[in-house]
Amino acid sequence: MSKVIAAHAVSVDGFITGRDPRPGHGLGDGGMLFDWYFDGGTASGVFDGFRLSEPSARVFDALAGRVGAIVAGRNTYEDSDRFGGGSPHPKARLVVLTHREAPEITAQQTLVTTGVEDAIARARDAAGGRDVGLMGGGVVTSALAAGLVDEIVLHQVPVLLGAGRPFFGELPAHVRLRLVEAVPAPGVTHLHYAVER
Ligand SMILES: NC(=O)c1ccc[n+]([C@@H]2O[C@H](COP(=O)([O-])OP(=O)(O)OC[C@H]3O[C@@H](n4cnc5c(N)ncnc54)[C@H](OP(=O)(O)O)[C@@H]3O)[C@@H](O)[C@H]2O)c1
Repeated sequence: MSKVIAAHAVSVDGFITGRDPRPGHGLGDGGMLFDWYFDGGTASGVFDGFRLSEPSARVFDALAGRVGAIVAGRNTYEDSDRFGGGSPHPKARLVVLTHREAPEITAQQTLVTTGVEDAIARARDAAGGRDVGLMGGGVVTSALAAGLVDEIVLHQVPVLLGAGRPFFGELPAHVRLRLVEAVPAPGVTHLHYAVER
């Protein structure tokens, strides 16, 4: 069965955006969380235009290459300007999870309003045997609460943002993790965990 992966750029104090993320404004004042995508000399083999340090490129491309579909929360979808009607990933279909209708959804995107289990199932169908990526702290928390996350990756950026949207929300119980790999790189430390069951 394909895996479900939650990989996000995150501050040391646990935020995946800065203050005031919104459409047209990206991560708010937390845009530096993505600096490591562009501050190196190694081109990504998956994302055009990304130039990472060598260790970051290795980690990033290994993860990005596994993903065949993405489930994003409604906030991520809106704050990212609806991904221009497409997907955040060049080779993965986007599934948007929300409680509300979204008339602007395109034929390249899938809307799910019936819960995180259905969203991940639809993404698995679209992924053709590849893995499913999650985007957005609300979606990650919903999927963790439902026991549906297999791996968590913190691309941890050495900054305390002080405010923003948190990677993780309240959970009904502890979730034990096992460290798979820790890779220090310029401007970011990649912490890859498996969820213990
Ligand atoms: N740093 C990074 O790597 C990174 C990665 C991804 C995203 N982001 C940023 O993170 C921010 C969004 O994160 P977020 O935590 O605020 O929100 P999110 O997870 O993107 O979206 C939350 C919304 O998704 C819907 N949702 C979540 N779980 C659901 C469920 N079980 N059933 C139905 N709908 C559900 C709800 O939408 P409704 O109730 O409104 O319908 C909920 O309010 C964005 O600004 C985005 O750009 C950063």
